[in-house]
Amino acid sequence: MWAPTFCTVTGAVASPSPRSDVSSKRRLLPHAACFSGRFRSNDDSYLSYERRSLVLSTMLSLVLAHVPIANASELNEVSVIQNGVRSVLSKAKAAGILRLVFHDAGTFDLNSKSGGMNGSIIYELDRPENAGLSKSVKVLEKAKREIDSIQEVSWADLIAVAGAEAVSLCGGPTIPVRLGRLDSSTPDAEGKLPEETLDAIALKRCFQSKGFSTQEMVALSGAHSIGNKGFGNPFQFDNSYYSILLEKPWTSSGGMSSMIGLPSDRALVEDDECLRWIKTYAGDQIKFFEDFKNAYIKLVNTGVSWEVS
Ligand code: HEM
Repeated sequence: MWAPTFCTVTGAVASPSPRSDVSSKRRLLPHAACFSGRFRSNDDSYLSYERRSLVLSTMLSLVLAHVPIANASELNEVSVIQNGVRSVLSKAKAAGILRLVFHDAGTFDLNSKSGGMNGSIIYELDRPENAGLSKSVKVLEKAKREIDSIQEVSWADLIAVAGAEAVSLCGGPTIPVRLGRLDSSTPDAEGKLPEETLDAIALKRCFQSKGFSTQEMVALSGAHSIGNKGFGNPFQFDNSYYSILLEKPWTSSGGMSSMIGLPSDRALVEDDECLRWIKTYAGDQIKFFEDFKNAYIKLVNTGVSWEVS
């Protein structure tokens, strides 16, 4: 029997939030914080995802019966957002949603302390680097309408939660997401996202300018395991990105394998420091999931203005 020991505390400790005030731990997504590991699986049936949601909702009601009112209402807030996202999410949409997270948060610049996870992506959809992302925003608009009719959610929170749900739906790790991000009402500065033509040195410099290490950059790049760049099953979040990078299929002449990966993906294997992490993650999916989870939490907390409660 699951005791309401508030695993949110565990999640709060694990979450490297820029302003870790007390309210933060009350706003963690319960399934991710509490059930991490228990439901982690590589099964890719949508039925099992739905069953998991049902089990989680049932467990949530059990928790709500045992916790103080303040915590109960916050858990409820979290589950409203999750349910709204789940009602619009599918494996086919997961990659676009996860990419949306990077394109919202990835504008962060450590020097000027500008950009970051602030929902400004909705004003930036006509930029060339965001081509194709309006589809993902439309998907989330539907969820937002549903959620807003019960309680208001910021775009930044919605995108952060949706990305974590997308990873989980595709068999990746469960990721606790703190809530309370405020939205920007203006677009972020242009030219902050890495271009796909960059070499490893330039990619590392770009991620450093956002406060991310090489290890975090390589772990986050594993997001390309889903989507259409040819790294295994496009709907399965796993470490195939790394094992395929090591094979360098693009060096074979002709055929589809020469199309695999972006220039920026291929550049990573040519760099000794990145290569070390690629080998580590290719050989250890659990380590990849753990490092991806932590880097994702950092990404969605980057540059955030938190609601004061
Ligand atoms: C390392 C620097 C990165 C570069 C240069 C880069 C660039 C790109 C490009 C050019 C695409 C193809 C878009 C298209 O199909 O039109 C793409 C796809 C994608 N990117 Fe990245 N990306 C980077 C890092 C990341 C990170 C950190 C994440 C998330 C944590 C991410 C998530 C995704 C996903 C999920 C897709 C697949 C989208 C789909 O198939 O719909 N990327 N990326």
